[in-house]
Amino acid sequence: MPSLFDRLLAGMLPAVPRPIVRRVSRRYIAGEAFDEVVEVARALAARKMGSTMDILGEHSDRPELAQAAADEYLELLDLQAEAGVDRNVSIKLSQLGLLEDPAACLERMRGIVRRATEIDGKVRIDMEDSGCTDATLDVFRALREEFDGVGIVLQAYLHRSEADVAAMAELRPDYRLCKGIYVEPESVAIQGHEEINRNYLRLLEAMFDGGSYVGIATHDAVLIDDVKLLIARRGLGPEHYEFQMLLGVQEALRDRLRAEGHPLRVYLPYGREWYAYSLRRLQENPSIAGHVFRNMIGFG
Ligand code: FDA
Repeated sequence: MPSLFDRLLAGMLPAVPRPIVRRVSRRYIAGEAFDEVVEVARALAARKMGSTMDILGEHSDRPELAQAAADEYLELLDLQAEAGVDRNVSIKLSQLGLLEDPAACLERMRGIVRRATEIDGKVRIDMEDSGCTDATLDVFRALREEFDGVGIVLQAYLHRSEADVAAMAELRPDYRLCKGIYVEPESVAIQGHEEINRNYLRLLEAMFDGGSYVGIATHDAVLIDDVKLLIARRGLGPEHYEFQMLLGVQEALRDRLRAEGHPLRVYLPYGREWYAYSLRRLQENPSIAGHVFRNMIGFG
């Protein structure tokens, strides 16, 4: 349990010198460049774990920035193929200009998914805050009608997700199901931990009922136990699901799941924009924020 002291420190993180944030966030970030993240992917592959890479970046509010981000993803797929690691990327559409020009964003994604398809790879569309949900699902639907190698994330805390699963059943989407990380109002999202977990299990059943492959993205040990029961009850093999976790989070649980024979993929964020991502991760985990400060004052 993080102490009150740790929580207070978490709020002060933006004042911490970057080199210290870098040192402590190393466990969450796979590196700044491909030659670093590829080593992490190889180490995971040696332990029979898959990977997906996410190029860290914020919302691109100019077309040239959105295009540059799309070009980086195209290059990443080629690099993954050359290196012989999983051809698998996760993309936030706001990085590709979703909010400014959805049609241009779809065009950029079409290029990326086409390239992924050519090399037998997969593109997963991350889900952002609820202001992006409709536009993100529209892009996914358009791509899914053309390609197999594209998947979508749904968030178990959203009231709307059940209806979204029903509405997309015909597309038999390749899903990632997560709880949802953005702060949303009660009118939009379920607030209670237990209730979110119950909805998670309901959605998971509905996704499997529809014949979807599901990436079960959670580090919640209690929820994972319930999911394992559900998988056993339905007699589902590895062709139907994989567990997914973020790099550096709950590694013991991750290793246990893998040792039990469950397929598992690790989400590897990397890139030059590591600082904003690190602050978010550290603020979510106040015990580590405390560690940053102890490090800074020489007691780390
Ligand atoms: P919960 O929040 O209950 O956490 C369970 C335990 O895990 C905590 O007690 C803590 O110990 C540990 N933990 C969880 N997250 C941690 C962290 N970041 N740092 C340190 N410890 C942590 N969300 C979203 O809105 N859109 C998306 O596209 C994605 N994509 C995505 C991909 C993958 C592979 C994962 C694993 C998660 C996401 N998420 C996401 C994030 C997700 O919505 C959720 O916020 C976090 O996974 C935390 O929720 P848990 O299910 O882990 O449970």
